[in-house]
Amino acid sequence: MTTTGPRFVPSTVRPATPVAGTVGARPPLFTPEELVAFKERVAPLIGVDVGAYKPRQIERRIAALFCRAGVKTLSDFADVLQADPRRLADFVDGLTINVSEFFRNPEKWEELATTVLPALLERHAHLKVWSAGCSMGAELYTLGMVLAEMGALDRVTLIGTDLDRASLVRAEAGLYGAHEVPGVSPERLARYFTPEGNQQRLLAPEIRARSRFYRQDLLSEEPELDCHLILCRNVVIYLNEESKLKLYRQFRRALAPGGVLFVGGTERIFGHRELGFDLLAPFFYQRSEAS
Ligand SMILES: C[S@@+](CC[C@H](N)C(=O)[O-])C[C@H]1O[C@@H](n2cnc3c(N)ncnc32)[C@H](O)[C@@H]1O
Repeated sequence: MTTTGPRFVPSTVRPATPVAGTVGARPPLFTPEELVAFKERVAPLIGVDVGAYKPRQIERRIAALFCRAGVKTLSDFADVLQADPRRLADFVDGLTINVSEFFRNPEKWEELATTVLPALLERHAHLKVWSAGCSMGAELYTLGMVLAEMGALDRVTLIGTDLDRASLVRAEAGLYGAHEVPGVSPERLARYFTPEGNQQRLLAPEIRARSRFYRQDLLSEEPELDCHLILCRNVVIYLNEESKLKLYRQFRRALAPGGVLFVGGTERIFGHRELGFDLLAPFFYQRSEAS
């Protein structure tokens, strides 16, 4: 019998401590040396700083992509990526976790709608909002629905950026599987989505028309500037401490005076004052004006 799946035990000596790809008692996929060599070869090809992510996170992703690639060794995998730009682009897209949801942490969206947004809208005639690491757009479109309910949709520019091209294509289309909208109430589903066949739901054109998406690497490219609200949720959890700080400094620079950064439901900015933020409420940080 022949098997076509990936080879699970490379020929090199196993390390004492398991690394990426270990599932239960299964032997580890790669030695640390193989991983280092792979990262060194691939990093310049992809232009993404893999060292900025938590090592376990990035190594798990490499392991998953390796398993899908149908190659035998990491060195073969690097050869494939070097030779085939399409496979390389797919690899970059697959490097990060893209899980997203509408109305993730509903109580925080409630707080945004009842306290943070009214204050911002009172101070500014027009709001610029940036969803940094927007994935398939659920976060930005959640905000679109909230703003529509506040009668303020025509007073905002909504911008979503992400590293992952495939997610951005989905965000632009605004078309979701029925299983992807569990956080949306039946009332909102009826108001903002049109069924496309049995399984698909298309977001309202007035919200899509307000939204612009583009590819951007948060770690190496210039941020959006003069933002009144930045949503960066469930992105920094994958980064190492140094990159996390770099990003927070970047967001401070990207915010207009009085602007607010909305972070994920498990995130806290330690040392927020030194980074130039006041804590407005848990998960909401306002650009402080004291320097
Ligand atoms: C877990 S998703 C979170 C999506 C959304 N913010 C939410 O909370 O539902 C993380 C997103 O961050 C993106 N991401 C990771 N590293 C990035 C980087 N360096 N630049 C831009 N986007 C990045 C991933 O592609 C992914 O879509």
